[in-house]
Amino acid sequence: MSVGVLRYGVVGVGMMGCEHIRNLVAIEGCEVAAIADPHQPSRQNALQLAPSVSEYLDHREMLRKEHLDVVVIATPNFHHRQAIADALEHDVHVFVEKPLCITADECREVIEVERRASQQDRVVWVGLEYRFMAPTARLIAEVKKGSCGKVQMISIREHRFPFLNKVDNWNRFNRFTGGTLVEKCCHFFDLMILLAQARPKTVYASGAQSVNHLDERYGGAKPDILDNAYVTVEFDTGVRAMLDLSMFAEGGKNEQEICVVGDQGKIEALMPESLVRIGRRDKGRKGVEEVKVEQSSSTVVGMHFGASYIEHLEMQKAIREKSPSLVTLQDGLMSVAIGQAAHLSIAESRTVDFGEIEG
Ligand SMILES: NC(=O)c1ccc[n+]([C@@H]2O[C@H](COP(=O)([O-])OP(=O)(O)OC[C@H]3O[C@@H](n4cnc5c(N)ncnc54)[C@H](O)[C@@H]3O)[C@@H](O)[C@H]2O)c1
Repeated sequence: MSVGVLRYGVVGVGMMGCEHIRNLVAIEGCEVAAIADPHQPSRQNALQLAPSVSEYLDHREMLRKEHLDVVVIATPNFHHRQAIADALEHDVHVFVEKPLCITADECREVIEVERRASQQDRVVWVGLEYRFMAPTARLIAEVKKGSCGKVQMISIREHRFPFLNKVDNWNRFNRFTGGTLVEKCCHFFDLMILLAQARPKTVYASGAQSVNHLDERYGGAKPDILDNAYVTVEFDTGVRAMLDLSMFAEGGKNEQEICVVGDQGKIEALMPESLVRIGRRDKGRKGVEEVKVEQSSSTVVGMHFGASYIEHLEMQKAIREKSPSLVTLQDGLMSVAIGQAAHLSIAESRTVDFGEIEG
């Protein structure tokens, strides 16, 4: 694994793979050398962004033939486990899109494969990029510096549009995605853990597929992904967190509203309004500071406030400085495990002890 110009190979060049390519071509000190995707239209789109890349239909052939430094995996969720295992057989750093895998068991398998491969200084990074969106990054920084005191409550509301159409409609079925609370909401469970700095203890959820995709059929099969849910997570420190998800709520100003209440104050991040509000109990309503948080102008602003650009810069820093990944396989596992626990809670109408999933 060299530390000169970093040669990237991208596995899966659909919407998110292209987002990575768009960002990587704008970063100095790296090049996108190869792509692997069996779907010709996806490869065609990727070639428009990086015309001189080598094209492969099979990622294993790409891994064998190209001398890559970093492999980005942006295939459908159900394929991550195999793609990571294949990549880990080579001398490469690995970036894998969220969710790490579709179940906690699969995540643990991947962690074991990585441990056995024991490649020194290898950076393996999970693309939980909401950490790097400017408003959430500011909220996290404020919590860390104690602006709201000791964290007690975290509430995350995502009210957004329905799932987009994907290649082969993989995102319409739980068996390919892990379920909406894994596929989509692993981002938010990751933020909860990061903000709570504690271990989840119990998960209770209520949710259903009430509005979206009800009339769609794929090969005769009806989509089974839920489109609305409430999830509560209790942590072993007494911190409690709540997710409010609606995927038929385009009629709102913000898609995400993240709120942390501590014993001394309250911090909110609102997106896409890009506002962070910081308030102290002792200053009351009039003392609430409202900050417009913009992404740095050097960032390639793609999806999510240019978070992919920032996470690649951070990952490259870790590679060059031989420092640890900021978003580890363990982080990937925990974010999937809460989503899985929430789905189990819905399926069995009961509170799930996190230990049942954590193992
Ligand atoms: N970080 C984020 O916020 C974010 C946003 C969207 C998607 N994602 C994640 O990115 C991943 C890809 O999602 P997407 O929206 O780009 O889906 P997509 O359907 O647009 O693209 C997936 C691509 O993978 C290709 N593919 C399928 N099997 C493959 C294989 N065996 N080898 C190589 N390529 C293969 C498909 O042909 C397709 O081009 C998913 O894991 C998704 O959860 C993350």
